[in-house]
Amino acid sequence: MPAPPSDARSLSGEAVGVERCGDDGVILRVVTERPLPPLRAARFFMLRRDDALSPAIPRPFSVYRQVGRELHFLLKVMGRGTAALAACVPGTKLRVIGPLGNGWPTLDGAGPPWVMLGGGIGSAPFYMGIEQALAGMDGGPPAKAEQIVYLYGAARRGLLYDLEAFQSLGVRVAACTDDGSFGLKGNVLQLLAHLQRRGEIPERVRLLACGPERMLEAVEAHAREKRYPCWLSLETVMGCGVGICNGCPVPTLPEGPRGSWPNAKCCVEGPVFSVDEVTLAGH
Ligand SMILES: Cc1cc2nc3c(=O)[nH]c(=O)nc-3n(C[C@H](O)[C@H](O)[C@H](O)COP(=O)(O)OP(=O)(O)OC[C@H]3O[C@@H](n4cnc5c(N)ncnc54)[C@H](O)[C@@H]3O)c2cc1C
Ligand code: FES
Repeated sequence: MPAPPSDARSLSGEAVGVERCGDDGVILRVVTERPLPPLRAARFFMLRRDDALSPAIPRPFSVYRQVGRELHFLLKVMGRGTAALAACVPGTKLRVIGPLGNGWPTLDGAGPPWVMLGGGIGSAPFYMGIEQALAGMDGGPPAKAEQIVYLYGAARRGLLYDLEAFQSLGVRVAACTDDGSFGLKGNVLQLLAHLQRRGEIPERVRLLACGPERMLEAVEAHAREKRYPCWLSLETVMGCGVGICNGCPVPTLPEGPRGSWPNAKCCVEGPVFSVDEVTLAGH
């Protein structure tokens, strides 16, 4: 049975700051009882407040930034768990379980450009992903700034969270909205096609995507059609986060390397999967 990562721990933590972000989000800054080593982008933590405001089951969140001793989380308020975390004040005690999951693959500069597709709050794992790609990962050659493009889409401008922070990373950032309130009117795949038609992004690319399930289904289909290497960071509903409850199944691709079993566990085998491993189609 796949096990949680060996570096995962149940830690006590404390909120040190909460800033509003976008129409319905916050950036929650947390310190843990002991400092954590540098974390790979797209790994995640299960978080809850220690008091009765949070539901008993902690909720999963990607690490957005790691700044010294602080972990930053970019949260969209969805229901009780996220509302409780967004209502933290400095000093609120937290349970912080992690780091969990695998994180992005090695984002190197040795192949076609990386096109990162973020949808709404699915932006969270990309900030550190861009930083780490530029710095070099796993001993691979660092990506040059022109080898990374971040395409960020949302329903409207107010749901493009912390856009300015991405724009300050020094890579190409382009945005789109469903209602046309910012950037191209349309979705991230339409934005990609638009920039490819204009010759601003080459025909051969490597894709990373995180966002709503319907967006990821469309990205998966597009990657298969174009034969692009593509990894998806999935935000399935989770129960335990550590491989016990079977609450996070992701259908495997029968002909893929995980095809000997019908489902993978998103929490311990993901949350990042290659489209060679899993399929969201028909999920
Ligand atoms: C690996 C991973 C990383 C994540 N990273 C982030 C992050 O960085 N920032 C962030 O804001 N969220 C992230 N999420 C999603 C986050 O965990 C959920 O939004 C959260 O669990 C909702 O809890 P809640 O108690 O507020 O809402 P609930 O009361 O549990 O649900 C409220 C509503 O939201 C819906 N909902 C709940 N979870 C999800 C989900 N995963 N996808 C779509 N709809 C959902 C429910 O169906 C319901 O309609 C991540 C999820 C995973 C698995
Ligand atoms: S969330 Fe429990 S097995 Fe994945």
